[in-house]
Amino acid sequence: MQFFVHRNPGHDLLGVPIQPEDVGLLCVHFQPMNEHHDGAHRPYVVNDGCIRCKTMDCVAVCPVDCFYEGENMLVIHPDECIDCGVCEPECPVEAIKPDTEPGLEKWLSLNAEYAKIWPNIAEKKSPPSDWREWEGKPDKLQYFSPNPGTAG
Ligand code: SF4
Ligand code: F3S
Repeated sequence: MQFFVHRNPGHDLLGVPIQPEDVGLLCVHFQPMNEHHDGAHRPYVVNDGCIRCKTMDCVAVCPVDCFYEGENMLVIHPDECIDCGVCEPECPVEAIKPDTEPGLEKWLSLNAEYAKIWPNIAEKKSPPSDWREWEGKPDKLQYFSPNPGTAG
């Protein structure tokens, strides 16, 4: 994604006067946090940290509503995620990762598979009352439920 801002000679930039002889054209390049130099799509992924925590803070901030709800975790639809990264710091259990991190292959597959069959969730609901007891527990895949959530 690129935006180009064209400035005419004589205009100020950040309060600094620009003389006509100094600048004819200024280009500003904005780059999404998760876009690579090859321009490839790099969706974010939910891993097992979410299982039985499912606080849903991520849902409240996603600009494209690409979370899908299972009984005890959420997943991200990899084709709908625009790699903006705003959900990652919102998750209190750090269960959302960019797919460039190593070891996420099985979670990428699981997100893609269940995003197709679970209901879309666009509004945050109340988390499970015991979610803090599951925070940071290792290897929660054994508790994964393939059942859909109640969103939608
Ligand atoms: Fe939504 Fe952005 Fe998170 Fe992707 S990275 S799931 S688009 S908030
Ligand atoms: Fe799960 Fe974290 Fe979202 S716990 S529901 S990925 S905020």
